Amino acid sequence: MPDLFPEDLDRWYYFESKLLNIFNSFNVNEIRTPLLESSELFSRSVGNSSDIVNKELYSFLDRNNESISLRPEGSAGVIRAIIQKKQELGRHKLWYQGPMFRYERPQKGRFRQFHQIGVEYLGFDEGVSEYELISMVLQINKSIGISDYTLKINHLGDAHAKENFCKSLVIFLEPHLKELHEKDQVRLSHNPLRLLDSKEKSTIELLKNAPKFEDFISVESKLFLEDLVSAFKNECDIQIDQSLVRGLDYYTGIVFEAVSSELGAQDAFLGGGRYDNLSNQLGGKEMHSIGFAIGVERIIELVSMDDSSKKIKVGFITSEQRISQKTYKIADDLRLANRSIILETFLNGGSIKSQLRKANKHGCSFAIIIGQEELKNNQAIWKDLSEDGEQELLNLQELVNQYINL
Ligand code: HAM
Repeated sequence: MPDLFPEDLDRWYYFESKLLNIFNSFNVNEIRTPLLESSELFSRSVGNSSDIVNKELYSFLDRNNESISLRPEGSAGVIRAIIQKKQELGRHKLWYQGPMFRYERPQKGRFRQFHQIGVEYLGFDEGVSEYELISMVLQINKSIGISDYTLKINHLGDAHAKENFCKSLVIFLEPHLKELHEKDQVRLSHNPLRLLDSKEKSTIELLKNAPKFEDFISVESKLFLEDLVSAFKNECDIQIDQSLVRGLDYYTGIVFEAVSSELGAQDAFLGGGRYDNLSNQLGGKEMHSIGFAIGVERIIELVSMDDSSKKIKVGFITSEQRISQKTYKIADDLRLANRSIILETFLNGGSIKSQLRKANKHGCSFAIIIGQEELKNNQAIWKDLSEDGEQELLNLQELVNQYINL
């Protein structure tokens, strides 16, 4: 559960500001749901057979002996909130952000507390929403300079297709049970679909002759998947991946994941898909649902910040031991005049020379120096801190103008 320091968060702010602009242009609005939910919510949504619920939930009994869990993901809470507000018949375009918790084995790119920013489109059936969400994903990646990635995509059919496939996979694999790795034997009894992304050699070998999932999904579903791929193939590396089944049980229809080879073993920096049955499953009315979530710690690794994100820093230097009421007022006026500039004050005082040294060390491009003399005459020295930079004496109005026009 990493701590995040100011120097880490610079990149986060940059990423978040790009995302906010994009969400705005798609008219996607924020929803905030609690970090704690009843444990049952996750067993009924993410699924009892998933690793996330089986092994990774942070669950405990509250004072009333009810089992509650720290959320491992955001979609279930959003659907619960909409059901509770009786809004399943409406249409919602929502985004959320915040920490998620999974008791996983920590490694590079995998944490026990990590952050997601997710988007859910509720009330829209298969069709335009898939196009819109994938184009949003592409715009997000482009806005932060990610170009070297693969968008894996698959169609999981409807609940019937999934069920029929799983049944025939079980019939096919049961005589070979002993050849399967222990972990895959459990998967076969709990969630056979997950066998498709097994990394075990014996399973991969057996699956070569097993029933194929693509034979169970409808022609329409296959065509829709192909249409999606052809619509985006000129804009990104989009590839159908038959083994993409995702680790959460609620998906039906299109599923996708963006992966980057720059990330190492944990290469997926976002994932999502359609989950039309979840509202029903949680006791709500039927509600078409599709969404995705970005793993912020992972995507941050890939962000390239452009120069527009760099803020100008100005050092505010005064010879007085403490910033007096008058100098404080000057600093205040400057900050009010231009919020995009960082005005750094050196609250511990020190000589003008030592404050100038600090200003340089802190990366200030300019310094405003107000000594006793300047203060008396309502003036300030404006000093360019670049090599061979000049300095000039300004009255206070000129100082504000200079500051506004930086
Ligand atoms: P997910 O694939 O489990 O999907 O998580 C989404 C992303 O969160 C992953 O692609 C990854 O980048 C990041 N992530 C997951 N676990 C960790 C971890 N332990 N440490 C760091 N990053 C991690 C979901 O959570 C679905 N709720 C997505 C969704 C939204 N589907 C529909 N709507």
